Amino acid sequence: MRDQFNRDIHYLRLSVTDRCDFRCRYCLPRSHRGFAVPKAWMTPKELARIGGIFAALGVRHIRLTGGEPLVRAELPDIARRLHELPGIEDLSLSTNASRLAKFAGVLRDAGVSRLNVSLDSLQAKVFERLTGGKLHKVLAGIDAAIEAGFSPIKINMVVMRDVNDLEVEGMVRFCRERGLTLRFIETMPVGDAGREAQNHYLPLPVIEDRLRQVHQLTPAAMHGSGPARYFRVDDSELRIGFITPQSQHFCATCNRVRLGVTGDLYLCLGQEDKVALGRMLREGADDEQLSQAIIEGLRHKPERHEFLTAPTAILRPMSQLGG
Ligand code: 5AD
Ligand code: SF4
Repeated sequence: MRDQFNRDIHYLRLSVTDRCDFRCRYCLPRSHRGFAVPKAWMTPKELARIGGIFAALGVRHIRLTGGEPLVRAELPDIARRLHELPGIEDLSLSTNASRLAKFAGVLRDAGVSRLNVSLDSLQAKVFERLTGGKLHKVLAGIDAAIEAGFSPIKINMVVMRDVNDLEVEGMVRFCRERGLTLRFIETMPVGDAGREAQNHYLPLPVIEDRLRQVHQLTPAAMHGSGPARYFRVDDSELRIGFITPQSQHFCATCNRVRLGVTGDLYLCLGQEDKVALGRMLREGADDEQLSQAIIEGLRHKPERHEFLTAPTAILRPMSQLGG
């Protein structure tokens, strides 16, 4: 699948729920209403059908996202079905890890091989204020994931000025000790919560400079690296990555599209354009028609996001598509 800017689209981010057991301040406002009703969620069977059409079009990597994917009880079933699709070489999961202690083994068995875990603070109080969740559960989830053999496990930290920016060095130590990969992420002004978070925006080049004063950072390659720029830290195995949607946007190498829980196909995080694949499917469209709708939709994938030039554009919370 190529879009009109000659980008090879082979990565589908699939949201299995728009709900979440956390309320991260930069993502999901406490006041948010209007979650999709369960009847409208794509069923495991429907997801496998849509996934199969994407695979036939050239998608090789599917990432399960939310909201928090683990709040959906059918997640292992969904994972198993997607893992079995011919052409899907890579099945990964983004999670807040709050329920991972219980499900890590089941998900590994279902064919999920790689994990991204959100972790913004290692201080229980800060963590709770920021996410509404319990740090000890997340840490237990990470331990279970290591135990279950996921590789790599990437820790995602949204770095915010005056919130957690002084924890960067502690997070480096935490990840180095456990053999985890660490990625720093700039806030994105998506949804009301994301725009609030702009007050704490910290350009990551500042963090990179700070780290260089104490560490040697050597550019490193990383499998399936997407938008992150990676470095090896000193002579250790630790890789750290910088994801800089604001200070240095990376849209020229975008390789992905996103599917919402009701089967809406979104071409870009920074755009409202969508294709109602789920509705078409339920109205009886055949695979060929769905396939055509995807190809047609891809023609509307924009060249780049417009977070900065039109910062009020995106109304949905980030949780709806899971980043
Ligand atoms: N800015 C940046 N990243 C965000 N995420 C959610 N909301 C935002 C935002 N406003 C990302 C975080 C989180 C993942 C689930 O989504 O990386 O870890
Ligand atoms: Fe939930 Fe993830 Fe959003 Fe936090 S960032 S509220 S864990 S979807």
